[in-house]
Amino acid sequence: MFDTPLAPTLDAGSGTDTGTSTDLPASVRALFPILVQRIHGHPLAYLDNAATTQLPLPVLEAMRRFEEHDRANIHRGVHRLSQRATDAFEQARSDLKRFVGANAGHELVFTSGTTESLNLVAHGLSAPQLGGAVLQPGDEIIVSGLEHHANLVPWQQAARRSGATLRVLLPDAQGRLHPQDLQALLTPRTRLLAVTACSNAIGETPPYAALLALAAQAGALTVLDAAQAMAHAVPALSALDCDFMAFSGHKMYGPMGTGALVGRRAALERLAPLRYGGDMVEWVTYADAQFAALPSRLEGGTPNVAGAIGMAAAAAFIEHTGRSAIDAHVSALRAHAASGLAAIDGITVLSPQANDSAIVSFVAHNAHPHDIGTLLDEQGIAVRTGHHCAQPLLDHLGLGPTTRASFALYNSHAEVERLLAGVARALEVLQ
Ligand code: ALA
Repeated sequence: MFDTPLAPTLDAGSGTDTGTSTDLPASVRALFPILVQRIHGHPLAYLDNAATTQLPLPVLEAMRRFEEHDRANIHRGVHRLSQRATDAFEQARSDLKRFVGANAGHELVFTSGTTESLNLVAHGLSAPQLGGAVLQPGDEIIVSGLEHHANLVPWQQAARRSGATLRVLLPDAQGRLHPQDLQALLTPRTRLLAVTACSNAIGETPPYAALLALAAQAGALTVLDAAQAMAHAVPALSALDCDFMAFSGHKMYGPMGTGALVGRRAALERLAPLRYGGDMVEWVTYADAQFAALPSRLEGGTPNVAGAIGMAAAAAFIEHTGRSAIDAHVSALRAHAASGLAAIDGITVLSPQANDSAIVSFVAHNAHPHDIGTLLDEQGIAVRTGHHCAQPLLDHLGLGPTTRASFALYNSHAEVERLLAGVARALEVLQ
């Protein structure tokens, strides 16, 4: 499928033994052109993958091929280019459905990212439509306390619009969510549960399958934010009690400004569209319009066709490289970083138990994350600092901003060692 050689399949025996675990072959890293650069004279150690992963050559080439050979608007033309573009777009949709384990009862809607996907659900359930909004006054919405603002603020707005009540499933002091706490929150008026597959701020991976199942048994709709899982621990949609799952292309080695909402067709049918206009209608008069069937009904306007093709190429890249090998690799990097950071005097690692995650977040006594991040950058190490768009969670845990390192398949244990040495050096300067 690709002109560029695909990543060699990750092989536990083919890397450099650091004494902790093995790294992936250097040929995989070589597929990411952006990584071959120096920052302040040091090789780039890119550890901000929870914000955005980088693009491998097969993804860049899939998008370039579309732009150079097939670019045209979709679903609108009888000419050859439009037909080729439409075929490529619909092929990307079916490839991504297969990638996430969707079945015949599911549909996938392309969006600009997880934020738009979640807004589409929250708006779609609370907006007035024929027969009334799905959410009604007195209904209850439960969101977990681990959520990114993108899976909280839309629900605050949906609650206000509809007269529903917003409840929060709070994590314990270690950031863990407990099914028995959800059980205690569920009532006959619970209409929806929204939860993440992995907290972007602290790296916690909650028991989301159990939480979704409990909510579904109580008759609620269920929403999973899978943005931080899709690059390695891809949730198997058909095995979950999940009505709506949101994810982004740019966190899974795909292009920025791309994403999807995938879910049960019957649940997607209940959403009022977010974008009215071209390509989402059957017929229009000056007075009225009949909306098209799914998925077009929720995809008004010209979509990011190259982006959809890039996302599907990213999914193929992940599959070819090996999902479980990637997952094992990033989890090993996280465990290495978490134990190394915890051993540094004055550092507290958040969610120390979350060893199946690719994200490690920490706070340092008497040192501001912004200063730590700046000193790490001077050593060529890119991390994220701040509230990570999850301010209520960090307030609930009694913490301020944190420093966050997040790993991808191209990172190495040598880079983790650089992070640990860099943090220790930064603390010497700052404390
Ligand atoms: N949601 C992205 C992050 O966690 C931007 O950094």
